[in-house]
Amino acid sequence: MHNTILIKSKINSYNKIIEVSSDKSLSIRSVLLASQAVGKSTLKNLLYSEDVEASLKTIRSLGINFKKKKNYIEIYGNGLNGFKLKKKNIINACNSGTLARLILGVLVKAEEKIELIGDKSLSRRDFSRVTEPLKLFGVNFKSKNKTLPIKFYGTDFPRPITYLEKRGSAQCKSAVMLAALNTPGKTKIKAKKSRDHTENFFKFLNVPIKVKKKNQYDYIEINGQKNYKGFKYTIPGDISSAAFFIVLTLLTENSKLLIKNVNINDSRIGIIKILKKMNANIKFKNKHIYNGEKIGDILIKYTKNLKGINCSNSLNSSAIDEFPVIFLIAAKAKGISTFTKLNELNKKESPRLDITTKYLRMMGVKIKRHNDDLKIYGNRKLELKGNFRVNNFLKDHRIFMMSCIAALSYGGYWKIEDKDSIKTSFPKFLNIVKSLGAKIKWEEGKT
Ligand code: S3P
Repeated sequence: MHNTILIKSKINSYNKIIEVSSDKSLSIRSVLLASQAVGKSTLKNLLYSEDVEASLKTIRSLGINFKKKKNYIEIYGNGLNGFKLKKKNIINACNSGTLARLILGVLVKAEEKIELIGDKSLSRRDFSRVTEPLKLFGVNFKSKNKTLPIKFYGTDFPRPITYLEKRGSAQCKSAVMLAALNTPGKTKIKAKKSRDHTENFFKFLNVPIKVKKKNQYDYIEINGQKNYKGFKYTIPGDISSAAFFIVLTLLTENSKLLIKNVNINDSRIGIIKILKKMNANIKFKNKHIYNGEKIGDILIKYTKNLKGINCSNSLNSSAIDEFPVIFLIAAKAKGISTFTKLNELNKKESPRLDITTKYLRMMGVKIKRHNDDLKIYGNRKLELKGNFRVNNFLKDHRIFMMSCIAALSYGGYWKIEDKDSIKTSFPKFLNIVKSLGAKIKWEEGKT
């Protein structure tokens, strides 16, 4: 009911200040790390979205208590491997790949059987990418499937490993790091560059970790099984959520937007680097470091003369969640844009490379796809008329929000299904869209 929205007109120009929802990666990591700390941790500005609620339910099912207060949450950790397991345990990660992959690392020493399950979208995603390295620590996986449901139990005597992470996946790297945290001795990781929030968090908690950053790979060493104390942490805004409004502002004539208090960690700002190369008028303000993370405000102004980009795939990992909206800019930029080696994009909540290609073509954008490479032929005059329907996208939150941005910046009469998908990462997305002046209706005609 009321889960389909209608957008019938482009948004008018605006000049506003907003704050987006808190960072999902940092919210999930802070919950999982607080659950293993000794004593109370206080998390402020935690993202209350379905992925994070699933993380909280998970730690509660493992015997960890927490109390939600008005502006913060207190989590009472029992130290490393301080979980109280039942004879049979089920963890439902719902839609969250990050929770599902990271919790497998956290539970390297689980002494009882656990079944990990998820929703339809999560149940089609590959888990062998984390079960393979975790087997080397000594975790016993009972199912042969590469997908959920997965049954497993841990080991009393995990062994440190040497691991090469070649995909540029922070989830794989972090699952191994969290297993290393619970394993005596030195785990060595060589990881293709990806978001480094887990590394920063470990440093902040004084977990013994060494990180050497080189050109394409980072070299990480962790000395495990050292307890750390409860901590205080405030979660900043999510650049992956800000991305939708960055793109909307660049495409909406005479508009200006200031997005306050966003995580602008170098390993997350691929979108900014890409858009700046396309001439986008974007500036960071009030930059500062908070517990190892870079935070700042983002000022965006409508940009008339956007141009195409030959995008280096070295930026893929730092922009991975933002490509659907980056493609919207490429579609309206002058000239051809090329993006290569986008294979990881098809491994997300939905096969995003296939789905975005399909919807861009539906919008009349000329695209050539060769395997995992994309050529988008920009058209500065792109304006849409007629009817567009977006459905069957595995309730992927980012596809829903990308479609809204397309409707609001290109025009046309849009019916977009599965509005509730935004609860995964950005529950206040539509409220912000409306606060900028957009007119949105539910299918039944309710506004
Ligand atoms: C995430 C890492 C990325 C990203 C996901 C969140 C994380 O996935 O797509 O939304 O918090 O570590 P991969 O690490 O698999 O690329």
